[in-house]
Amino acid sequence: MRIVVLLLALVLALPAQAELRGHGGPVRALAISPDGARILSGSFDQSAILWSPEAGAAIAVLRVHEGAVNAVAFLPDGRFATAGEEGRIALWRPGAAQPERVFEGHGAKIAALAASPDGRFLASAAWDRSVRLWPLDGSAPRVFEGHAENAVNAVGFLADGSAVVSAAYDGTLRLWPVDGSAPRVLAEFGLPQNTLAVLPKAAGIAVAGADGTVRLVPLDGGPVRELAGGASPIIALAVNGDGTLLAAGGIRGSVALWSLPEGRLARTLTGPGLPVWSAAFAPDGTLYTGGTDRRVRRWNPITGAHLGAVVPEAEERAATADHPGARVFRACAACHTLSGDSANRAGPALAGLFGRRIATVPDFQYSEALRRMDIVWTRETVAALFTQGPAAYTPGTRMPEQTVGNGDDLAALLDFLEVETKR
Ligand code: HEC
Repeated sequence: MRIVVLLLALVLALPAQAELRGHGGPVRALAISPDGARILSGSFDQSAILWSPEAGAAIAVLRVHEGAVNAVAFLPDGRFATAGEEGRIALWRPGAAQPERVFEGHGAKIAALAASPDGRFLASAAWDRSVRLWPLDGSAPRVFEGHAENAVNAVGFLADGSAVVSAAYDGTLRLWPVDGSAPRVLAEFGLPQNTLAVLPKAAGIAVAGADGTVRLVPLDGGPVRELAGGASPIIALAVNGDGTLLAAGGIRGSVALWSLPEGRLARTLTGPGLPVWSAAFAPDGTLYTGGTDRRVRRWNPITGAHLGAVVPEAEERAATADHPGARVFRACAACHTLSGDSANRAGPALAGLFGRRIATVPDFQYSEALRRMDIVWTRETVAALFTQGPAAYTPGTRMPEQTVGNGDDLAALLDFLEVETKR
């Protein structure tokens, strides 16, 4: 009996948010603000989410793209950009519900995005064979063409901002000087390339793709080095701030970490949430990965430990309560608080939900779509929301698409909400 009680106490002491949950589809892209206080994720669920890693909470759900959000990037001043399958790029200011600007021009899906170190340009790579350079001062974009195959998959800026580099399905790594001088093919591999990372201190460019080998290409034309031992094929690459660790995420599962400049395979991360689609290092060295399991997870890249160091707030403690619906609510807790005095997060506070008209929490910036609807929240309407899914039941909503497919889970969630939203 005592062992059971002890175990229960241990389980309850675990933080509720060992990872950032909120997306309704695989997490395709990740970026971290220069100060490390914000994480931006893009998902196949067509939304981008801005997170506070410290609170383990979503701050805003951004929906403007018609299709998967394949790429995200932060500017040095804290603004950020998202790019979608429909070929548009949105530039956002923190706190705004709508983008400050939308850049149009690509004729196919955008696969990658980068911000110049001085914050004057964005660069994008798309499946229309082109790389584009977008000046943020509003002047006309520049179109770089030369890749032989349609799919340009990766893009980055050299650290001094002098050129854009891109890698593509045609197996080449190309360099496009920002001043408009002649582009160069930096390397030709004969194998489709999926992703790249520009190493700090002009140490070169890491490129990887179909065969699971990372190639380090120096900028001075010296020999290309190969790092073997990665997962196959590689779809995500990230380098830490001082260029001493390189992470490669593979479609088959693990994340390989090499120490640089030696190029020694330091560690392979395996565990929950893999395979990964995206990876990024925070300024404090924490590695974030986004995966098929729809979550953003964090890791200590030195020890390989999967981290869950988030102080649980009252809401999240409620979510660990011994109620079957509490487990289901964990998928909501990053965006919604429950009890009377709790604030709005990325989603409106749910306190007093039942009997309430849709879109009526004061101070919450609802979407136009939700404000125009005529629904009163009851067991039946909340059930409909999560059996049909927000996109079908409340078209135009900013809430990421998610359904609660299992009838028992749905009943448990509704029971839990009925109790917890009345406190
Ligand atoms: C990633 C963030 C996120 C997650 C996760 C999330 N929601 Fe939401 N939710 C929102 C946003 C944003 C809105 C407001 C949408 C709008 O204005 O279009 C919303 C709206 C709602 C509403 C309507 C509230 C009102 O005031 O009219 C309900 C009910 C709701 N969510 C319940 C849930 C439940 C239950 C879950 C978990 C199964 C969940 N949400 C998961 C972000 C989220």
